[in-house]
Amino acid sequence: MPIPQYLLPDTASTTPNGRLTIGGVDVLDIAAEFGTPLFIYDEQHIRNRLQEAIAAFGPGVAYAGKAFLCSAMAQLVEEEGLHLDVATGGELHIALSAGVKPDRIVFHGNNKSATELSEAMKADVGRIVIDSFDEMDRVEGLLAATDLTPPRVLVRVTPGVKAETHEYISTGQNDSKFGFTVSSGAADAAVRRAMDSPSMNLLGIHSHIGSQVMAIDSFAKAFAAIADFSQRYNFEEISIGGGLGVPYVEAESAPTITEWGNAVRSAADSLGVTARITAEPGRSIVATAAITVYQVGTIKKIPDVRTYIAVDGGFGDNPRPVLYGSDYTTFLPRAVRAPRPRTARLVGKHCESGDIIVREAKIPDGLVVGDLIATPVTGAYGRTMGSNYNHVLRPPVVFVRDGKARLVIRRETYDDLTRLEL
Ligand code: LLP
Repeated sequence: MPIPQYLLPDTASTTPNGRLTIGGVDVLDIAAEFGTPLFIYDEQHIRNRLQEAIAAFGPGVAYAGKAFLCSAMAQLVEEEGLHLDVATGGELHIALSAGVKPDRIVFHGNNKSATELSEAMKADVGRIVIDSFDEMDRVEGLLAATDLTPPRVLVRVTPGVKAETHEYISTGQNDSKFGFTVSSGAADAAVRRAMDSPSMNLLGIHSHIGSQVMAIDSFAKAFAAIADFSQRYNFEEISIGGGLGVPYVEAESAPTITEWGNAVRSAADSLGVTARITAEPGRSIVATAAITVYQVGTIKKIPDVRTYIAVDGGFGDNPRPVLYGSDYTTFLPRAVRAPRPRTARLVGKHCESGDIIVREAKIPDGLVVGDLIATPVTGAYGRTMGSNYNHVLRPPVVFVRDGKARLVIRRETYDDLTRLEL
């Protein structure tokens, strides 16, 4: 079977001679111009998903920047009218310097420092999502010591719902470092304190059950738990966080953003919730928007064992297989429709056997050293979680749209490697 269209960016298309184009640009030409490895993002795909999120949840919906953030991405979010979820001072800095309106910024984090809180409050961000009593102490301390105005806040609650996903990215269960637990009474205590405090302007609650969640009823269950809590206080706003999963490989399928929005809305209607409901999708906006293109450098055949295909990137640009055991698939941009009858292990160039990109990669006949090979669905949590272990240079990011490719993050250089050294 060739690579299915639903694992490729929206504008992906095949030329008569079988080559992949994205945004009207030939992927092999992009690789020739910018080198490999590289991330290619379909700008139209991102815009389509941002618009779908607004249609599903309304204009207060935020894009979760941790999935993929740079100035060009922040500008797309701003242009399409979404809010932007940032989780650290660094992400806040990117958002502000890219020109995102401060009142559209939602500031998250389970351990925001006093410096980060003061930066967010000075910028007058739209929401600070309060995660702990210690953070409340810090906000109150800052208000007492400065002439800042009380921030608009949401209180993050932990509903006690376990999402069906990897343990590391499941956050709604009681055993979590995030937020105030509903069942222990901590969430009630947090809400009462925020209501009584002159240093916080409490608008509502926030909850996030985890990431790469494929079962729509997990969201309905979590919503029911937080709606029940919210009704006690008649909040005007409930954020359900992010978490909608995407298919990474041929066998998977996931609900759309529209279906996710409909499921949450019908749960809200049936529970009589009138609060404004908002969300923070990250992965479902950008994951399928991008592919990573590598060049094959060595092919090692071990008789009766397996074939290793080594490329010029690795877990520095995609740590997800190593971290979560995540599965990916592969195809050749020069032969998109080719059947892929062979199996090989796609590995990187880092000095570890664990540097695996695709455990069982489907490969067409005729792959040779020097070929370009791509992994689809690499737009989320790849570039942002990457590293330059072994001082492998971080790949560039190219946005394509309407027949044009533009470099939005250049490739790291050897000079960058010594830039921080004194
Ligand atoms: N809101 C909050 C409070 C979050 O913690 C997250 C993700 C999101 C929204 C966005 O979730 P998404 O729609 O992207 O699932 N590195 C992991 C994922 C970590 C997610 C962290 N929080 C991975 O590569 O699977």
